[in-house]
Amino acid sequence: MTLTHEPLRRGYDVDENAIRFSNYFHVLREIVHLSNGWLPLAPGFETKYRLGDHIHDDARAISKVKRRLYELRHPSDYPGAPGAELTALLDRLAGAESPQQYMELAYGEAKPALIEALEVHLGALDPVTDEPSLRLLTQVHERQAHHVAELGPDDAQSRHSDLGSLAIDLKAPPRRLAILEPLGDPARDEFVEVTPDGDPFLSAELYVNDPDENHVPVEREEQRHFFHGLMDAELCAAELMARNSHEHPEMPWDFHVDMARQTWDEVRHARVHGILMPTELGCRWGDYPVGFAYFRSIYERDLLDRLALFNSTSEQKAMWRHSHRRKVLVERGQETVAKVFDYLLADEVPHVHNGVRWGAYLMEGDEKAYRAYVRDLRSGLDRTGAPTSA
Ligand SMILES: [Fe+2]
Ligand SMILES: [Fe+2]
Repeated sequence: MTLTHEPLRRGYDVDENAIRFSNYFHVLREIVHLSNGWLPLAPGFETKYRLGDHIHDDARAISKVKRRLYELRHPSDYPGAPGAELTALLDRLAGAESPQQYMELAYGEAKPALIEALEVHLGALDPVTDEPSLRLLTQVHERQAHHVAELGPDDAQSRHSDLGSLAIDLKAPPRRLAILEPLGDPARDEFVEVTPDGDPFLSAELYVNDPDENHVPVEREEQRHFFHGLMDAELCAAELMARNSHEHPEMPWDFHVDMARQTWDEVRHARVHGILMPTELGCRWGDYPVGFAYFRSIYERDLLDRLALFNSTSEQKAMWRHSHRRKVLVERGQETVAKVFDYLLADEVPHVHNGVRWGAYLMEGDEKAYRAYVRDLRSGLDRTGAPTSA
């Protein structure tokens, strides 16, 4: 196929282009930050699942937008501060008082405004001189349209005319991201019963790592309870990672990308269990009670301890249990259920790495000191890995 010789379009100046990317950066950064804050409080599983997926999409989009800003404004990717009109929109998003109100603003107004601006941009840019922007914006536009179709209200529409052209203040201090109140309990679908002790059917033997003591659930009834408990545990993991990101906007951007990826992985895992229950086991989400004692024992700690206790201990030890469970289930001929553990195990590796990567970062880059800290904390855990004292 031959290259065309169509005349070049005028397109945008490099500076105008960079301003547009700065506006996209601010909208997406605010949405990732706030969706992370609200995800644990959104009650419906489907909403949590979609939010987790969109948070990950948007975090990756931000990385690409930052990269394009760096290319256009070499050697800086500093996006500047949002101007007055964009600040007003972001402040309204940050001021939402319930997950429903936040979703209406994010999916009913902010994302539609972003989509409209991307369409203006794609319609005006020169596809040859600015081909890198064309590629990037085409991808972002496709995902944003998908997000609004999935979670947007029926009347979703942009109330702004070309958000991309709004002024950016390069001299103002960076925008401060507001942090929501600390969580009480995370929310669950209204048909899920929450009790102080969770499902009494789940025994400690399911969660110990000793090969002689660990019990792999093989009977149908115990598998039902086990996978139900696992689905809730995956949701708790997503909620912890989302809150790690939300409550620590001062962390480097890569931390937020890692947390976003893990949040998405954990809601995907929850979905897998949510499918296995009715298709393989004859039960469904909501059939048994759930409890938040373990979640609380991790959430009440600071970021370093959350990483040490959850990623570097709980998830690290779960790797052995997943591979043990897989082996036993394959021997019993439950191939579909066994395959799930194969993928859970593969996804767990980067989750464990998140603990070392960011735990060491919090200890001035000293990985050895972090590992020693983890060993020390582990001595205060019971045989299932739950903290015995807070
Ligand atoms: Fe998981
Ligand atoms: Fe995990």
